[in-house]
Amino acid sequence: MTVTQDAAPTATAPLPPLAARARSIGGSPVRDILAVTARPEVINFAGGLPAPSLFDAEGIAAAYRAVLTEAPARALQYSTTEGEPVLRAALAARTSVRGLATDADDILVTTGSQQALSLLATALIEPGDTVLVESPCYLAALQAFGFAGARVIAVPGDEDGLDPVALEELVVRERPKLLYTVPTFSNPTGRTMPAARRAAVAEVAGRCGLWIVEDDPYGELRFEGERVPWIASHEGARDRTVLLGSFSKVMAPGLRLGWLRAPAELLRACAVAKQAADLHTPTVNQLAAARYLADNDLDAHVARVSAAYGERRDAMLAGLADALPAGSVWTRPEGGMFLWARLPERYDTTALLPEVVRHDVAYVPGAPFHAGAPDRATMRLCFVTQTPDEIAEGLRRLGAALGAQGLPA
Ligand SMILES: Cc1ncc(COP(=O)(O)O)c(C=O)c1O
Repeated sequence: MTVTQDAAPTATAPLPPLAARARSIGGSPVRDILAVTARPEVINFAGGLPAPSLFDAEGIAAAYRAVLTEAPARALQYSTTEGEPVLRAALAARTSVRGLATDADDILVTTGSQQALSLLATALIEPGDTVLVESPCYLAALQAFGFAGARVIAVPGDEDGLDPVALEELVVRERPKLLYTVPTFSNPTGRTMPAARRAAVAEVAGRCGLWIVEDDPYGELRFEGERVPWIASHEGARDRTVLLGSFSKVMAPGLRLGWLRAPAELLRACAVAKQAADLHTPTVNQLAAARYLADNDLDAHVARVSAAYGERRDAMLAGLADALPAGSVWTRPEGGMFLWARLPERYDTTALLPEVVRHDVAYVPGAPFHAGAPDRATMRLCFVTQTPDEIAEGLRRLGAALGAQGLPA
């Protein structure tokens, strides 16, 4: 028998290219800015970072100690993809108490709610499918839908969120698969969609056939006004709304614990997608969170955090009029972490950012949050990370930076 030897591959042959989706979707501009603003002297209104001084580090440490000493074999072992039963039951109970009857089986625990977005994109979207989003929209949701090859279209709206009449027109014309919205204390605007509009959105989804992804990581951080029921709790939308939740903003983002509540068939598809993504969310984190919920009053903790965030929002509102040029407008959120400002037309917040960072302060330019035509005069400001005094100082720096631009008044 003769053995032929294959020609050795040349060392210089080009490698196969990255997938088209990896080439077309850019990194998050927020993450890029966070890297630039890592200097400790920068007062960073850009990152959406919960205030670290308000983490209940002691309570969380006690919960980890308890599960690791009392049930180490379970806490350190592989787990089911759907999530630890004790945590799913606790999440279902918290959801039910808030007006949406939920069983543990309706919940899939995810590695942050960001993973829920990726799983939904995998489970629902074919390349070329249309996804509707509010405008402006949470950036990493745009990324997740973009990676799935979706055609993303912005639904026009106003200070109350997306407009249900415009939504219906788009649904009829574009036949989208799903609508993505953050109806309570939106990222990036801080706006909340009123109850009547939620009912109208639910009604359109019911009548026209549309999935709704209702992303709610901020809803519990209310420091003013009354809670507005979820879109998911409207009769017509129950079988077609996926509700996303997260411990990132009420406990700590480093836990990477989120969840989705979805109808059975879609939940099953997301669980299969999750098997391929990470098998399951870390067992020890899930058990520690469940233990924390059992041993502590999370609602009381959230009330303390919200009260502090309310003071911080007030500090930001108090300083904005002096910091931003005449003619600027901004939102006045009743909760959450962000407010959204619009400067006069001649300001381009992306172009201005390097000079602003030289003054040791940072915001996120508004342009990348738009799925459609970008509004370049907008910016997102996070008001929760710093103390009121630091916020006041940051806004003085922002005022000095913008004042130094020499733009016509
Ligand atoms: C609207 C929205 N959805 C989802 C997420 C992801 O949160 P996590 O993955 O930490 O739960 C964020 C984080 O900032 C967000 O603002």
